Order: sequence, then structure tokens, then C-alpha cells
Amino acid sequence: MEKLRPDAPHLKTAIRDKYEAFASWYDWLEALPEWLGLKRLRRRLLQRAHGEVLEVAVGTGKNLPYYPIDCRITAVDYSPGMLRIAEQRAARLGRSVAFRVMDAEKLPLPVDRFDTVVSTLSTCTIPEPVAALREMTRVAKPTGRILLHRGARGWEPPRPQLSE
Ligand SMILES: C[S@@+](CC[C@H](N)C(=O)[O-])C[C@H]1O[C@@H](n2cnc3c(N)ncnc32)[C@H](O)[C@@H]1O
Repeated sequence: MEKLRPDAPHLKTAIRDKYEAFASWYDWLEALPEWLGLKRLRRRLLQRAHGEVLEVAVGTGKNLPYYPIDCRITAVDYSPGMLRIAEQRAARLGRSVAFRVMDAEKLPLPVDRFDTVVSTLSTCTIPEPVAALREMTRVAKPTGRILLHRGARGWEPPRPQLSE
């Protein structure tokens, strides 16, 4: 088993705090990449979702408009502030989504639960992306599908400087 990064717990809290501060600006700051093609990519990716869906690190819910209407969605994120914006978006769209604050690296969810697990622009942000990917695999049904879009490093908010 590989070792965790020694700064991982601090980093996780610092990243969550960053997104808490940043939540109400996120959609504005991301508007250009969305317009330049990310929106199209989300639409293409999400049309492959079906059944019971888990979205990991949902952020402000930018994928929500693109899910097929019969998907039953659970959406998790580590930042309550980002989830609040996602909740507002779901309400505007008239979509019923179960939102939960959860750490992607340790999902308190049963094995083989979801037909589709989705995560976009998250593995470049989560401190231990391999742990998160393992969790996504664990909660997906053996016949399920995992839909990922990684994004580029440059889209991540600046990492806080950690001192110790
Ligand atoms: C760049 S945003 C992407 C949001 C959304 N998936 C999208 O495509 O716009 C990264 C998201 O990952 C979340 N995140 C970071 N670390 C996390 C963790 N350990 N567990 C769950 N979510 C996490 C952040 O709170 C933030 O909402």
C-alpha cells in the first residue's frame, strides 16, 4: 500500500477552506473554459450516465443540467459552500438530488451501490486522487461505469502554502 502524503490532512482542510471562500465566485471564474468547450464536453460525458448515479466532488453542480432525466443522483463534495450553490442549481433545474458533505477519499457508502459514478475536474484537486479513484471503484457496481474528466492542472485554485 502506498504511503499517504505527509501533508495530506492539512492539505485537505486547506483545500476545503479555499473552496468555501471561493464558492460564490466559482461559476464566474470558470465561465471562459465552459464557453470554450467544457460545457460541450460535460454534455457528451453525462449522456452516458444511467440509473443510480453518484457524483463525486460535484462542486457547484455544473454537470447537473446534462444528466438524462431518469438518473437518480446522489452528489457529494467536501465543501458545504460549493454544495449550497449546487443545491440552488438543482432547485432551479427542478431536479431532485441528494446532496451530502463527504470526503471522496473515504466515502461512507456501501460497495457495489451505483450504476454510474461521475467525477469531473476533481482528481487534480483531491490530495490523494488514487484513494478517491479506489473509492469510486468500490461503490460502483461491477457492471457499472465510471465517467471521469480530469481537466488540466492550471484550472485548480492556487494551493495554499503550508508551513510547519
Ligand atoms: C475544480 S472543482 C470541480 C467541481 C465540479 N466537479 C466541476 O466539474 O465543476 C473541485 C471540487 O473538488 C472538491 N473537493 C476537493 N477535495 C475533495 C475531497 N477530498 N472530497 C470531496 N470533494 C473534494 C472541492 O470542494 C471542489 O468542489
